[in-house]
Amino acid sequence: MSGLTIRDLTVTMGTGQRSRQIITGIDLDVPAGRITGLAGESGSGKTMTGLATLGLLPAGGRAAGRIEYGGRNVLDLRGRELNALRGSRIAMVFQDPTASLHPMLTIERQLTDHLRRHRGLSKKDAVARARETLEVVRVPDPEGALRKYPHQFSGGQLQRIAIAIAIVCGPDVLIADEPTTALDVTVQAGILRLLRSLCDELDLAVLLVTHDLGVMSALADTIAVMRHGAIVEHGDRHQVITAPADAYTRALIDALPTADREDG
Ligand SMILES: Nc1ncnc2c1ncn2[C@@H]1O[C@H](COP(=O)(O)OP(=O)(O)O)[C@@H](O)[C@H]1O
Ligand SMILES: [Mg+2]
Repeated sequence: MSGLTIRDLTVTMGTGQRSRQIITGIDLDVPAGRITGLAGESGSGKTMTGLATLGLLPAGGRAAGRIEYGGRNVLDLRGRELNALRGSRIAMVFQDPTASLHPMLTIERQLTDHLRRHRGLSKKDAVARARETLEVVRVPDPEGALRKYPHQFSGGQLQRIAIAIAIVCGPDVLIADEPTTALDVTVQAGILRLLRSLCDELDLAVLLVTHDLGVMSALADTIAVMRHGAIVEHGDRHQVITAPADAYTRALIDALPTADREDG
């Protein structure tokens, strides 16, 4: 299947006099087999865009417009249909990997619960698929890792495990919100390389959300830049980095270290 097409998405927080539009009618394409970068300063609306896609806006948040996936508008889905989509067809990883993990359950249990619920696999098949997925995300000693608990892993390994949980049911779309921001710089590059290879090998549509334009310029195929709830720039990586159309984007790029600006 395919990726996401976002059209005229608005998100409003609160009601009546206190209501505030935090996303103001954005268009964004997140195609399969590509990493679509969503950059922009803190508070620009990147996280809310990702959460709206999964119907996970915080209390008081309302989304309007279209988020097209598989011929449906995700914003029209409710209850069971929305649940089937979340975590199964469209998955998300967060800055803090522990947000996706239960502290008291083994890694095996967390991966297999997901598979049995969404995919209806037998225990044996689920364990095999869980082990395979840990191999895909390159967690060392997958067999041993299955028996451990989250606190027994480093931050970088935990983020790999959170990614394993996200992809274990074979989603089409992966939304990664600041997936390396909380990690030691020495492990960041490994996680970014993993996202690249998952995108290429599984034909995943990846929406990579980050405030870090350096990460973006190293990894994304296309880049969208948000500011104050609007998309001010959207184009292929090379074009956005070397010839940004928007003054705000240009200022962000000028602030990058020279090495990050080179278009690899
Ligand atoms: N729980 C919330 N309730 C109300 N407003 C929120 C909430 N979370 C974020 N916001 C507001 O939504 C806007 C966009 O935030 P967010 O999407 O988190 O930005 P980003 O991820 O780009 O840093 C900000 O103005 C922020 O203050
Ligand atoms: Mg954010």
